[in-house]
Amino acid sequence: MNLLKILKKFLFIQNIIASFFSVIPPYLEFTIGKYQAIKKAMFITAHDETYGSYLEFGIFTGSSFNFAMKINKKIEKIFGEANCDFFGFDSFEGFGKISEDDKHPRFRDNIFSVDEKKILKNIQKCSDGQKYKIIKGFFEETIKNKDPHQHGIEKARVVMIDCDLKESTSMALNFVRDVLQIGTIVMFDDYIFYKGDEQKGEFAAFKKFKEQNPNITFRPAFEYGYGSRAFIVSKI
Ligand SMILES: C[S@@+](CC[C@H](N)C(=O)[O-])C[C@H]1O[C@@H](n2cnc3c(N)ncnc32)[C@H](O)[C@@H]1O
Repeated sequence: MNLLKILKKFLFIQNIIASFFSVIPPYLEFTIGKYQAIKKAMFITAHDETYGSYLEFGIFTGSSFNFAMKINKKIEKIFGEANCDFFGFDSFEGFGKISEDDKHPRFRDNIFSVDEKKILKNIQKCSDGQKYKIIKGFFEETIKNKDPHQHGIEKARVVMIDCDLKESTSMALNFVRDVLQIGTIVMFDDYIFYKGDEQKGEFAAFKKFKEQNPNITFRPAFEYGYGSRAFIVSKI
C-alpha cells in the first residue's frame, strides 16, 4: 500500500499530525525562524569574509541578540575568528511616542518595557567573553542624525532590524547607511505586518531608504519566520 492509500484509509494519521503542529505556539515558531535567519546571516557573512559588526535595532529581552553572540562563537570554529563585535539598541521602555502612521494594535507603547537590569545581566552572562555594547535610549536620541563611527562601528556585517515601526526602522537604516558594505546582510523581522500596506512598517521604511539611496543595491537573500525578509548589499 502506498503512502496516499494509507493516508486515505487511516484518517487518524492526519489528525495526529495536525494536532502535533497545532500545539506549537506561533511565537515559538517565529523565534525559531529568527534564530535560523541569524544563523544563516552569520554563516553567509563569515563564509564570504564580510567582516564587521552585528547591529541589532530592538533587542527587548535580548533573545536574538544573545543568540547572535552564541552562534558567532560556533561559526568561528568553522571559518576562524571574525573579530565581530555586537551592538544592541533599545530604550527598554518600548517605542516611546508612536506616530499616527505607525499605530498598530500589537505595537503598543508599554508592551516592550522590560526590567533593564535583569536583561543586561543576562546579556553579560550570555556574551561569553565576546565584545558587545548596548546603547540604551530612544532612537530619536541615540541614533537619529548620529554617526555610527562615534560608537566604534566601522563596517556592518549583519543588521537586524527588529523595531517594528516605520519611523524606528527609518532611523536605523539612516544610521547604518555609511557603514554598509558589499556583503552586509540586512534583516527585517516585521516585513509583512500592517496588512501588507506598502506605506507602513518596516517595508515602507526600506522602500523609502532605497529610493533615497539609489547607489546601494539590495539583492533578496532569503525569507524566514512569518513573512520576514533578509537582503544582501550587492553593490554600493
Ligand atoms: C519586537 S521587539 C525586539 C525583539 C528582539 N529582537 C528579540 O527577538 O528578542 C522590538 C523592540 O524595539 C524597541 N524599539 C522600537 N522602536 C524604538 C525606538 N524608537 N527607540 C528605542 N527602542 C525602540 C522596543 O523597545 C522593543 O524592545
